[in-house]
Amino acid sequence: MLKRLRNKILVLNMLLTTVVVAIAFAFIYLVMDSQIQAENKRKLDAITEGKISFAAQETNTDGSEDAVAADTVQQRLPADYALSFHVKLDPYGKLQNIDSLIDLPEASYHLAAETAWKHKDGHGPISINGRLWQYAVVPATSTQVINENGMQTIIAAQDGSYQISFLDVTGSMETLRTLAITFVFVILAVLAAIFLISLMFANRSIRPVSEAWEKQRQFVADASHELKTPLSIINANYDVLVSNQNETIISQIKWLEYMKAGTDRMTELIHSLLSLARLESETAEINKVPFNISSKVSDIIESMAAALHEKKITLTLSIEPGIVINSDMDRVTQVFTILYDNAIKYTEFSGQIGVSLTQTSRLITCTVCNSGDGIAPRDLTRIFDRFYRIDQARTGDTGGHGLGLSIAKACIDQLGGQLTASSADNEMTTFSFKLSK
Ligand SMILES: Nc1ncnc2c1ncn2[C@@H]1O[C@H](COP(=O)(O)OP(=O)(O)O)[C@@H](O)[C@H]1O
Ligand SMILES: [Mg+2]
Repeated sequence: MLKRLRNKILVLNMLLTTVVVAIAFAFIYLVMDSQIQAENKRKLDAITEGKISFAAQETNTDGSEDAVAADTVQQRLPADYALSFHVKLDPYGKLQNIDSLIDLPEASYHLAAETAWKHKDGHGPISINGRLWQYAVVPATSTQVINENGMQTIIAAQDGSYQISFLDVTGSMETLRTLAITFVFVILAVLAAIFLISLMFANRSIRPVSEAWEKQRQFVADASHELKTPLSIINANYDVLVSNQNETIISQIKWLEYMKAGTDRMTELIHSLLSLARLESETAEINKVPFNISSKVSDIIESMAAALHEKKITLTLSIEPGIVINSDMDRVTQVFTILYDNAIKYTEFSGQIGVSLTQTSRLITCTVCNSGDGIAPRDLTRIFDRFYRIDQARTGDTGGHGLGLSIAKACIDQLGGQLTASSADNEMTTFSFKLSK
């Protein structure tokens, strides 16, 4: 499900990026295109107007030569000169003469003139002899040179014929084409890079969500599993009771006690689950009040003295009296109870437990340590996970659900403190929490 969501976001992201990148590059291309077109037009206008100046030699279609322009107004070619030629057509589109410095086959001029004449209103480019030509069709002026006292005067007059100037735009069209191809490749490369980066970020950003999702799923599975055991105990004992309906309750009390143990276990589990749910909800309330933690800890130890005696555990206390902290008393009590209860549960028979409570000017540190099998480094990193219990065979039937330490951790986290554990195989296990006063 999360993958589908990630893909959707990715597709949307890529679509938007593609549109933005395509618009950006199209814009650049259009600007370049219009600049090149404008430049070509400028050149074409220039050569159309200055046609006479270019004409080194005019060859009439009948082969005779007009020497007029050649010796009259000989000009140098402009610095940005591009290949060009001119043709003159009569009012009916018949080629009259060609004015060109380029060595093109005669047929090409005819084809150029014909094509341009057909599309008089256009300006090309048209392809002639493997090159691209832009053209302009204008009414032609015939020139006359009058010599007066050695001075030459050029008189231009319109005679109904047309002049078509052709400008070689192969270079600029090629530039535009190269630009377009480059852009397509750049766009593809940019999109591929963006896709990879987006994919990386999408995967990275979805990871915590999918981890939380997986954790939640695991939590529900574990909780259901934990509920299944007491429920099957209750069911089995109920069946025994039903099959012995004529017996007295007192003779069947054993089964009833098993059922009670089952419901107790469920109640305990549900309490733990509720505790966790409350602790992890955003609106969890913290009720901080000043209280004497030293006497609170002593009270809890005293209330659990029976369990200690039962296992013949030696208890070493080092509790600084009269330490007052401003914190949530119920949560601190809950945390200490969980740690002390664990210490009793997981200490071997005739083992040892030590509890110490000290303070500095700003912090209190409470430590509970116990002898026993210890916790291997591999497990030490996981004991705060919900439902995590070290190898059932080793922990034996201590009746826990593996939620105690995760509740303790959530409490201390919420109170802004720190809960740490240290241990090793067959060594003392130490749990310690620090809270600010
Ligand atoms: N003081 C301790 N000494 C040794 N092992 C411990 C101690 N406290 C906790 N553990 C290990 O960590 C596991 C998780 O503890 P906890 O969350 O309190 O669950 P539970 O006590 O219900 O099993 C226990 O099953 C136990 O294996
Ligand atoms: Mg426990």
